[in-house]
Amino acid sequence: MIDRLKEIRERALSAIEAVSTSEDIDKIRTDFLGRKGALTMLLRGLGAIPPDERPKAGQLANAIKGEIEEALSGKSGILSRGEAASKIAGLDLTLPGRRRPVGSLHPVTQVMAEIASIFRRMGFAVAIGPEIESDFYNFEALNIPSDHPARDMQDTFYVDEKILLRTHTSPIQVRTMQRCRPPLRIIAPGKVYRCDSDVTHTPMFHQVEGLMVDRHVTFADLKGILTYFIQDIFGSDTQVRFRPSFFPFTEPSAEVDIQCVMCRGAGCRVCSRTGWLEVLGAGMVHPQVFRNVGYDTEEFSGFAFGLGVERIAMLKYGIDDIRLFYENDLRFLNQF
Ligand code: DAH
Repeated sequence: MIDRLKEIRERALSAIEAVSTSEDIDKIRTDFLGRKGALTMLLRGLGAIPPDERPKAGQLANAIKGEIEEALSGKSGILSRGEAASKIAGLDLTLPGRRRPVGSLHPVTQVMAEIASIFRRMGFAVAIGPEIESDFYNFEALNIPSDHPARDMQDTFYVDEKILLRTHTSPIQVRTMQRCRPPLRIIAPGKVYRCDSDVTHTPMFHQVEGLMVDRHVTFADLKGILTYFIQDIFGSDTQVRFRPSFFPFTEPSAEVDIQCVMCRGAGCRVCSRTGWLEVLGAGMVHPQVFRNVGYDTEEFSGFAFGLGVERIAMLKYGIDDIRLFYENDLRFLNQF
């Protein structure tokens, strides 16, 4: 009995020594210590040996069982550490990481932010106003007479007779002047609505309105500030042209053109062969508008301007269809 126990011990320990995977460890445990394992089976025969040999054999069997268990757990620790290490060894740490696609701001939002940042540097604050506006702020206070074509149902979305979706951001001029005394320097970005739709018009688009009022503000200030703005956004070599025009809320009024960004002034389809592209409307605030908000026209003067954000973005990036901004096609949006 004693000899057979020692023989099992030798076999078990050398098998454990030789093993190389965690699964084999489990197999050895079953082979020797399991319900039908070699050691278990031998111990079942304990009753058959002479009674005076039994205690010694029993003690030895327990000691061997302990020894085998200890060897198994020691080896299984070594193996599992090795297996974890070899998994890491199979990793290529130089592979580039998996990138998640990151979204970006909409091109209209980006251009609006760029415009705001240029004017903020010149001391202009940002003002906002409601998109659902009254006839008074959108038209009346801006000196737009009741027979003006802009008031036609063809151009304006009316909510009822006196309430409408604002057709421009100019009403924010009036709201700001009612609230604040000069000196005043604001820009007013926002959505505007017109009943219009083709390659250069959408029923909703964005404008930025500007207003500066103080003592001694002249047309020279208007020209200086708008030229600075245009050359910042389109490049310092951009030619700028001020052309006489008409708006009911400014006098005198001008439209501002830049040299065509496509043909550099040579004349092409985009600029209708003129070499120039209109980018904004501007003028000296009309005395009637000042009177409407209670400003003293002898003491104060000012200029205002308004521009379409989509138009600026189209010229800046060479986009030929305004509807691309609103189709949410990622192939288009990802380019910005
Ligand atoms: N409100 C005009 C429009 O929507 C743009 C504009 C022109 C605004 C001249 C102004 C301005 O403040 O002085 O077409």
